[in-house]
Formats: sequence, structure tokens, C-alpha cells
Amino acid sequence: MNNKDFKALLGTELPIIQAPMAGVQDSKLAIAVAKVGGLGSIPCGMLSPAQVVDEIKRFRAATCAPLNLNFFCHELPPFDTQAQARWHELLAPYFDGLGIAADLGQGGASRMPFNHEIADAIEAFKPEVMSFHFGLPQEDLLKRVRSWGSKVISSATSVAEAEFLAMQGVDGIIVQGIEAGGHRGMFLSDDVNTQVELETLLTQIASRVDVALIAAGGIGDGHGVKAAMENGACAVQIGSAYLLCDEANTSSLHKAAIEHAAKTQGHTALTNIFSGRPARGLVNRAMTELGAMNPHAPAFPYAANLMAQLRKASEAIGMSDFSPLWCGANITACRKISAGEMTLTLMESVPHDHDNKYEYMSRSYADN
Ligand SMILES: Cc1cc2nc3c(=O)[nH]c(=O)nc-3n(C[C@H](O)[C@H](O)[C@H](O)COP(=O)(O)O)c2cc1C
Repeated sequence: MNNKDFKALLGTELPIIQAPMAGVQDSKLAIAVAKVGGLGSIPCGMLSPAQVVDEIKRFRAATCAPLNLNFFCHELPPFDTQAQARWHELLAPYFDGLGIAADLGQGGASRMPFNHEIADAIEAFKPEVMSFHFGLPQEDLLKRVRSWGSKVISSATSVAEAEFLAMQGVDGIIVQGIEAGGHRGMFLSDDVNTQVELETLLTQIASRVDVALIAAGGIGDGHGVKAAMENGACAVQIGSAYLLCDEANTSSLHKAAIEHAAKTQGHTALTNIFSGRPARGLVNRAMTELGAMNPHAPAFPYAANLMAQLRKASEAIGMSDFSPLWCGANITACRKISAGEMTLTLMESVPHDHDNKYEYMSRSYADN
């Protein structure tokens, strides 16, 4: 059992972080989880600074509970027109099949790393927790975040990454097992063979670093939460289980694919074809035909440029053949209930002193 105090780290009543999930949720899900005592997260990796501010305001108006803002901190490589042209060659039959012409232009990068412009926009709100994916921001940015009093947490997918984050003085490490849905937070290696299951990774990291650990990947019920705590975590971060919840914005095609997979023993795989980085999602036509890990996928985030065009055209005719159907390996953890109910269900097997502060957490930040 990890003896780190999750309350000191997260400021919440429950040791549960609703995982930030870009593209499928906003402040609505974060508020619902925060109101029952978990840590609500707003994924900001695909939002403009103005959109981030709007989301924070919605959260603060609804609850005075702590807030986690999540950002990516990848290095943005220059746009590679040759790589894009090679990728287009492979995808051309699909553009023809859908009767659309490809736009090979750069467009805006779909995912921007955390930067000073965003820091300027959010500074006044002093988020209690800031979580990062794909490593950590540059030292000067990190310094700014710390000066607001925000706790800094980031994902590790290997012992080496956990040791790196510990050296940088993070307040908590999200130990992301290979079961996790969405993007792997890997930042020291791009070899997916270095990735292992949560139980193994947690045990290895717990014996090597003295930092609060948050377990992520495949956790979908109270037993999973309890097991993670017994293996060295002081809290858990759970994403996929919330995908079918009332307050998530998961598209109807994505929801249908999850429900179908759960009924038919469908499965997930790691794929780089939708963004350029490995991420776990339900296997669909694009992954099957292109190969889930395709060496020609342009670097993150530019693989998304062409795939997003195919996705848009195929979703318009009711197909998810080219959609990233992010989901963790534990597909049956997804349930059509409210996010509050899901959060409390996850706590079923873990002793805790939840003293039902719904009234307190329903007050807005300003009222406090
Ligand atoms: C749909 C989806 C989107 C995700 N997007 C993000 C994101 O924007 N930022 C992030 O740090 N992690 C993201 N993740 C990964 C989660 O933080 C977390 O590692 C994962 O959900 C845990 O595994 P689980 O899905 O099996 O619960 C995403 C996961 C999913 C399922």
C-alpha cells in the first residue's frame, strides 16, 4: 500500500481522477465527477486558450471542488510535405471510395503543446492540479505553473520515464499501463515493445521512486481500484469507464462501437494511424487494412490531417471506419450510468471516509 496522501496531492475526498479525454468530454463530465468527490479533469490539448478559459469558468461556476487541467507537451516537428504525400498515396483509394478530394495543406496542427500563451490565459484561475501527457513542459513553463501553487502530475509508461519525472520533482506520477485507452504518454522511447501491463509497471515503479503514484489503465470497478492501491498507488486515474456515461460527449458512433465490442468480445489495439503516436482504440476498418502500427504515418500530430478528412466524410454517412475509437482494453467497464454513480461504484471495494459533501461541492467557486 502506498503511504502517500492522495488528499494532499489532489485535494479531493476520493482517490479517483476522472481521466482527461480530449475529444470526448468537457467540463460537464468533470463537474459531475467533482460533485461526488473525485477529481474532475478538463482535457485542453485540442482547445484554444479562449476555449480553455470558457471551460474553466463553467467548472468554477458549478463547483468549488479542485480542478485538473490537462495539456500535451510534445515537441511539434515541422510539417513534412513528403511524409504527407507518402501517407496520401496509401490513403488515396479511401478518398476515391468516399468520393472526396484530399487537402494536402498543413492546416492548423490538431494538437498544440502547452505554451506561454495558454499559461497567460489560465494563470488567474490557479488550477489546483495540472497534468501533462508526453513528458513535461520546458523548465520556464513548469516554473510558472508551480508559482500558481498547482500540483504537477504527468504520465509515465516505463520505469525510466518515472525516474525522469521524479528527478524533475513532479508531485505525482500517473503510471499508465498498456491497457489504457487513448494515447500512450510515452516520451523517452517510441518503441511500443517497452510498454507493459499496469500491475507489472506499478510494482516496478513503486520499488524505484518515492513519489505519489496514480494508477491508470484498464481499471473499471472497485476490485481494480483496490488492487491498484495494494500495488503501490495512492489514487487511480480512470478514463474509458466513463465513455458511456450520461455527461460524456462520446459520439453516437463511438458509443455504438463500444457497445458492439462489449457484446461481441471485440478488442482494442495500439495504433498510430490516427495521429502519428501510439494510442489504444477499438479495432476498425482503417486499423485492419492499413495495419494498426503503420511506419508511414506522419509524425504526431500530422497523421491526423488526412485521417480527419476521411473520418468526417465517413461519419457523415454513418460509418466509423476512419474514426479513432479510443477505448481501453477493459471494454466492459464502460457503463451507461451517470458519472457520479460510476465514481461511487468505483469506490465500492475501497474503505474511505466519504462524508457526502454534495452540498459543499455544488457551491460555485465564487460563493466559497
Ligand atoms: C477517449 C480517451 C481520450 C484520452 N485523452 C487523453 C488526453 O487528452 N490527455 C491525457 O493525458 N490522457 C488521455 N487519455 C488517457 C487517459 O489519461 C488514461 O491514461 C486512460 O484513460 C486510462 O486507462 P483507461 O481508459 O483504461 O481507464 C485518453 C483516454 C481515452 C480513453
